[in-house]
Amino acid sequence: MTSKDGDSRMSQSVIELMYDDGPKKSRMDYEAERILKRIIHHDSDNGGVYVEVTGAQGAGKTGAMLGFMEQIMTFYKKEKIFWSSSYKAPLQFLKLGEDKFDKIVFLVKKDSGVVFRNRKTGKLIPLDVKEFTDFDDLYRKAEYQKCNAVFFGNRFEWMDFIEYLRSVFEWSHVFIDEFGEVAPSDQSGEMWSKIKQFSEVVKEVRKCDVNLFTNSQSATDVDYRIRKKIMIKIFLPGASADNKSRIRQSAIDNLMQDPINGNFGYLEYSGKFGRMQFSKIYKPPRGLSIEAIVLKNDEDEKEDKKKGRKKKKGSDD
Ligand SMILES: Nc1ncnc2c1ncn2[C@@H]1O[C@H](COP(=O)(O)OP(=O)(O)OP(=O)(O)O)[C@@H](O)[C@H]1O
Ligand SMILES: [Mg+2]
Repeated sequence: MTSKDGDSRMSQSVIELMYDDGPKKSRMDYEAERILKRIIHHDSDNGGVYVEVTGAQGAGKTGAMLGFMEQIMTFYKKEKIFWSSSYKAPLQFLKLGEDKFDKIVFLVKKDSGVVFRNRKTGKLIPLDVKEFTDFDDLYRKAEYQKCNAVFFGNRFEWMDFIEYLRSVFEWSHVFIDEFGEVAPSDQSGEMWSKIKQFSEVVKEVRKCDVNLFTNSQSATDVDYRIRKKIMIKIFLPGASADNKSRIRQSAIDNLMQDPINGNFGYLEYSGKFGRMQFSKIYKPPRGLSIEAIVLKNDEDEKEDKKKGRKKKKGSDD
């Protein structure tokens, strides 16, 4: 299936939202544009992409993902977007800006115990959320041209949801902030096997209409079997060059950081790379910081602590 609705405006939109199209173009600009088009042009003949953004803390990793998301939200009418957030951390998609809050749909798994809390006052916020029971229900309730912020109450469930999306006959896009929390490195036992299976799913996105965008501060936060499948790498200031990359560490260290006009970054795809400026700055909304927490886990934690104390007491006796 080829998604054509956004294509006609593709180059215009790339330039509008992400790419500063100056009069003189260097080879680096052309390569960056070519790679951006590979990401933005949704064509089943080419299949989906797995994009990873790395960089130092605060380098604009989440911002870069929000840029791609806004692009899809704005120009593709028949595609669904899913955003995966960390718990107990400010909700990053709020950086889309207050004028876009009506484009955010909160989807919470039934009985997951997920609630939302003001990070300054600690008070719970009764957000207008849609509850879902299973993946079919979630997909049905997710809306087109919106940021569907999904909360399973457990970040590992994203591995299964991405697998599910492979059999949906529409383009879909998954944005995973802090991917190391979904497919962490150094796991053993059942989780090791689950991640291995997920690495096969990730490999297949190339053949499906699924785009996977992830970020992590350090590449090694994410399981190496998954990382081997990355198709497009975006290096922002402070990123570590990996040994398979054509981009040298010294080049990354020289990337310009510009908090006003946007940081520069390298994009690498199939042995070629380009450089671009991420010219849109996504800032947290002023005076508003909301986090998602899993109440059940909090209660379990307290219970475990109590049990732990009792056990210790017992063993001391
Ligand atoms: N393109 C950009 N260029 C420069 N600064 C940016 C850009 N986008 C956002 N910022 C600024 O940097 C801050 C951090 O951005 P962002 O959250 O995207 O970074 P991050 O790399 O995801 O950070 P973290 O490691 O904490 O997750 C933003 O609040 C904003 O002030
Ligand atoms: Mg971030």
